[in-house]
Amino acid sequence: MEIGRPGVDWRPPGRAGSSVISAHSLPTGGGDSAVWVRDLHKSYGAVQAVKGLDLRIGRGQIAALLGPNGAGKTTTMEIIEGLKPFDSGQVLVLGMSPLQARRRVGVQLQEGALYDDLTCAETIRLFGRLYGFDTDPVRLLRLVDLEEMLNRRASALSGGQKRRLQIALTLCNDPELVVLDEPTTGLDPLSRRQTWSLIEELHGQGRTVLLTTHYIEEAEQLAELVVIIDHGRVVAEGAPAQLVAELGAAAKISLAAPREPDLARFPGVLRGRWGQGRWELQTKEVGAILAALGRELGEEALRDVTVRPPSLEDVFLDKAGRQLSEDRS
Ligand SMILES: Nc1ncnc2c1ncn2[C@@H]1O[C@H](COP(=O)(O)OP(=O)(O)OP(=O)(O)O)[C@@H](O)[C@H]1O
Ligand SMILES: [Mg+2]
Repeated sequence: MEIGRPGVDWRPPGRAGSSVISAHSLPTGGGDSAVWVRDLHKSYGAVQAVKGLDLRIGRGQIAALLGPNGAGKTTTMEIIEGLKPFDSGQVLVLGMSPLQARRRVGVQLQEGALYDDLTCAETIRLFGRLYGFDTDPVRLLRLVDLEEMLNRRASALSGGQKRRLQIALTLCNDPELVVLDEPTTGLDPLSRRQTWSLIEELHGQGRTVLLTTHYIEEAEQLAELVVIIDHGRVVAEGAPAQLVAELGAAAKISLAAPREPDLARFPGVLRGRWGQGRWELQTKEVGAILAALGRELGEEALRDVTVRPPSLEDVFLDKAGRQLSEDRS
């Protein structure tokens, strides 16, 4: 199926080939959303990459798609970007079909290629012109801290610098929606944080940002909406704090304990493991357990204690954790 042929544009389900639905007959809320996806399906031959995925991202939001390798994140994003046809379902981007919205969307591909022989400045001017913009390379390169590389060829950039140039390229067309597929993979910790700042700046300018990441803390830090995908479907979505609260997971406490504590004396402990002079335990009653530990082991024991509250990572592992050997069909 070719781009621009039936299957790419947004159509009522089961009516491939019919024209794009007019704005006043759009489903409630669909047209107001930056991205609105309903019951999306996409297969590559026998591989069902996306199997009935629903998604709704409000305008001006930062949303993060999380999911294990092969979950269907890139496929979903490329459909939203208008780069990939889909089999069935409904997709609206900025109230339009993905193809119609393409000029207003900035795209950073997971495996984006650069022209080796072009300098950073030439690359930015070229991409800008493709969208009909006279883009200022210095301004964009400054945003990603690459202004010193203005006249350096893409082939002479490091992996992380290439990644940052690709992020700059997403902004060539002054997009309303910025779609970033793993924007910080391969970046050093400082560059990662600079990218976070840039994403927050884009958000501050009123743009919508849709990103994927395998760094859960990145989603926790940036995203107002986190969508966890597994096997081509959404398995959880919400604000990070809401997802963590809904899971109701236990906190993890680790402390020095000279001997194995008697679990029966700590009814609030859900799980405990003692070894090498430390006790690792899980509880939902952190305050009460710490007080009980102080009484049992002495205040001294509490000098060397760490408490890790439940996090988005717990939600991810709960919702998308699975054996690698599990049947993926
Ligand atoms: N061009 C293709 N041809 C055949 N199968 C494909 C193709 N692209 C993706 N797939 C398969 O579709 C499924 C979803 O892939 P996708 O790239 O969307 O996953 P992802 O969530 O982005 O994974 P990752 O975290 O590894 O980037 C996988 O099983 C993958 O092997
Ligand atoms: Mg991917």
